[in-house]
Amino acid sequence: MHQEVTHPCIQHKLALIRDCETGHQKFRELATEITMFVCYEALRHVKVKDVDVETPLTTTKCQMLDEQIIVVPILRAGVGMLNGILSLVPSARVGFVGLERDEQTAEASTYYEKLPGHVADGISIIVDPMVATGGSTIAAIDKLKSKGARRIIVVCIVTCPEGLEAVHKAHPDVQVYAATIDAELNDMKYIVPGLGDAGDRLYGTV
Ligand code: PRP
Ligand code: URA
Repeated sequence: MHQEVTHPCIQHKLALIRDCETGHQKFRELATEITMFVCYEALRHVKVKDVDVETPLTTTKCQMLDEQIIVVPILRAGVGMLNGILSLVPSARVGFVGLERDEQTAEASTYYEKLPGHVADGISIIVDPMVATGGSTIAAIDKLKSKGARRIIVVCIVTCPEGLEAVHKAHPDVQVYAATIDAELNDMKYIVPGLGDAGDRLYGTV
């Protein structure tokens, strides 16, 4: 299952973030803003509870979030989405998975892992700007499930049919939300048209 979250404001920001002339400072701002838009949709079905709130005029029934939310950025580029999602759910816990693709084979290997002990109880949201082959995302889902996570969502900025198919085949229960589903992968397993290397563009290491 996946959803491309389309909206004129997202399209506008995608045009800017794809542009090779966009420097790392602006790229980071755009990644944060796009993340907020996509997460807004991804969090639509999170559970809420009724609460009584006293306004200056009366007491009224309101709703507040009622789920433990665990955000899991995939290092390093996923950190560029962390502020965006935390501005929507400031109380979320945060776990990290460090994964790096081999430049030749595009296979992801793990170099770091620190997850909260609460993943079984809540909803885990993996954030990474790019789901290309899907290898990094699948590895992160594997890790979360091995720790007991039962409800997992992936939020990315750019993906492509190959990556979506791979994630769906490995984990059909996991829904992927993206700002755009691009056309394809090139020979180097980069998404085309894409936005290039998200980590390098976020951190100015190009
Ligand atoms: C990028 C990106 C994803 C992964 C996507 O990270 O941020 O994690 O590649 O590719 P995949 O779907 O084919 O696995 P990269 O390995 O370049 O590391 P970085 O975040 O440190 O730049
Ligand atoms: N990683 C990136 O940062 N960009 C891609 O297009 C593919 C993998």
